[in-house]
Amino acid sequence: METITPQQMRKVEQNCEKMGVSLLLLMENAGRSIADYLKTSLKDLKRKKIVVVAGTGNNGGDGFAAARHMAREGADITVMLLGKAGDIKTAEAISNWQILEKMTRSVKLLTLPDKEALDMVSETIVRADVLLDAIFGTGIRGKIREPHSTAIDLINRSRGFKVALDIPSGLDPLDGRIHDKGVRADVTITMHKAKKGLLGQRKYTGEVVVVPIGVPPEAEES
Ligand SMILES: NC(=O)c1ccc[n+]([C@@H]2O[C@H](COP(=O)([O-])OP(=O)(O)OC[C@H]3O[C@@H](n4cnc5c(N)ncnc54)[C@H](OP(=O)(O)O)[C@@H]3O)[C@@H](O)[C@H]2O)c1
Repeated sequence: METITPQQMRKVEQNCEKMGVSLLLLMENAGRSIADYLKTSLKDLKRKKIVVVAGTGNNGGDGFAAARHMAREGADITVMLLGKAGDIKTAEAISNWQILEKMTRSVKLLTLPDKEALDMVSETIVRADVLLDAIFGTGIRGKIREPHSTAIDLINRSRGFKVALDIPSGLDPLDGRIHDKGVRADVTITMHKAKKGLLGQRKYTGEVVVVPIGVPPEAEES
């Protein structure tokens, strides 16, 4: 499997932007590819209880975009943000969150700024049919704080089908080391190319599936 380091991926994204392929467009393609993969592999998303557990970076943003695409399939979707709306870091993730705020009939949105708020909805995570782990991707740094740490435990406790976006949260994208703990996914849907740290960590990654996000071949050149 062809791999890429987080640093190389950042360079590819910068090149995309210079060529006019914005990060927002890449995020849109990621969300669409994730939803398409799930629709095909799970056969039917109708009435499935799907919970997206999202962080405040672009990994969360990919989860927001995927939630919107899945809402068209008649799934029962809850998006849980581990933080407050004002904590969302990037313009692309904010933009996708603001769309979800307007989808008042098709998506339930929860903001969970601390462990106490998360504890109140723990059963929703544990009883989900499908869980999307959009907590951390390549942006993980240091010891995992709360409520993220408890969210990883709850995902692992669930019997639902666990889908990690780009990287299982807690796994280091470069060397595959585990930061304290990590999501044990059934499948990892990784964007553009497999991140190097995914190799040899099947216990955490499950099956690794690479999906396209519309990167022009010319953006690979340094
Ligand atoms: N589709 C696209 O266009 C696109 C583009 C780029 C990236 N991505 C996706 O987004 C990912 C990278 O996005 P990103 O750089 O924004 O990073 P990220 O992986 O989304 O993680 C960054 C977020 O996690 C928090 N965080 C990091 N370490 C933490 C810890 N130990 N405990 C608690 N919180 C922690 C950060 O908060 P603090 O800063 O407060 O620590 C920040 O909010 C990629 O893996 C990919 O999935 C998508």
